[in-house]
Amino acid sequence: MKPMIEVEDLYSTYGDRFVLQGVTMQVCAHEIMTIVGGSGCGKTTLLKHIIGLYTPHSGRIRLFGREMLGMDEAEFGALLKQVGVMFQYGALLNSLTVGENVALPLQMHTDLPDALIFKIVRLKLHLVELDHAFDLYPPELSGGMRKRAALARAIVMDPKILFCDEPCAGLDPMLSLEIDRLLMKLNQALNMTIVLVTHELESIRRIAHRITMLDAGKVLFSGTLEEAERSGIRRMEEFFLKGEG
Ligand SMILES: Nc1ncnc2c1ncn2[C@@H]1O[C@H](COP(=O)(O)OP(=O)(O)OP(=O)(O)O)[C@@H](O)[C@H]1O
Ligand SMILES: [Mg+2]
Repeated sequence: MKPMIEVEDLYSTYGDRFVLQGVTMQVCAHEIMTIVGGSGCGKTTLLKHIIGLYTPHSGRIRLFGREMLGMDEAEFGALLKQVGVMFQYGALLNSLTVGENVALPLQMHTDLPDALIFKIVRLKLHLVELDHAFDLYPPELSGGMRKRAALARAIVMDPKILFCDEPCAGLDPMLSLEIDRLLMKLNQALNMTIVLVTHELESIRRIAHRITMLDAGKVLFSGTLEEAERSGIRRMEEFFLKGEG
């Protein structure tokens, strides 16, 4: 099966400092790939490259088999419609209701009539078990509800690939479990490919099909949980023993 995402020898800089230094990895269709690594190692940067927010110093990225560098805007826009993103600090707009927040991508990227848009929004809110929150404003939601609303917004366009950057950060274990359960549902019921940045070992054990660990700007390991645990790589063993990313 052709990979959904192929990153090849990716170098990335902020100013003159290299953050990614030759990252090569692939994400297959319908898998849940988790990306782990210490704080500041470049996980968010990598995601932003894959969704085309940053231009690399060098290297190649293919999304759905299409070369992203040099792609014209129309093709790039069409490609991005098939991608959903839940950013690390991605906030909902407090001045809009949950329903309006979730509707935003549809209003921006489609010309569907409002009645249909809000029908789709209700379906997505149902999927993340937030039916009752349609008319609430973000400050009226609990932390876990806010994350689920952000998840609903990320999937409202029915993306083939969903990127989630630390979706459980700041949530207690029960609420993290809920988010994991929803991600598994999206993966299994809707065949969504998921790229998940996380440092939560429990979460990884629950839902990861494969793991990629970044270290010093490179991929230290990419493979299944079983392969990770017997990789013989010290940093990997430390991570799985103590949860030290
Ligand atoms: N916009 C930016 N301008 C300059 N430097 C940046 C910028 N964004 C990130 N960096 C730097 O690049 C490095 C990688 O950052 P990145 O956010 O990708 O790390 P991360 O692995 O996602 O970390 P965390 O686990 O804390 O979220 C860090 O040293 C960070 O300070
Ligand atoms: Mg980050």
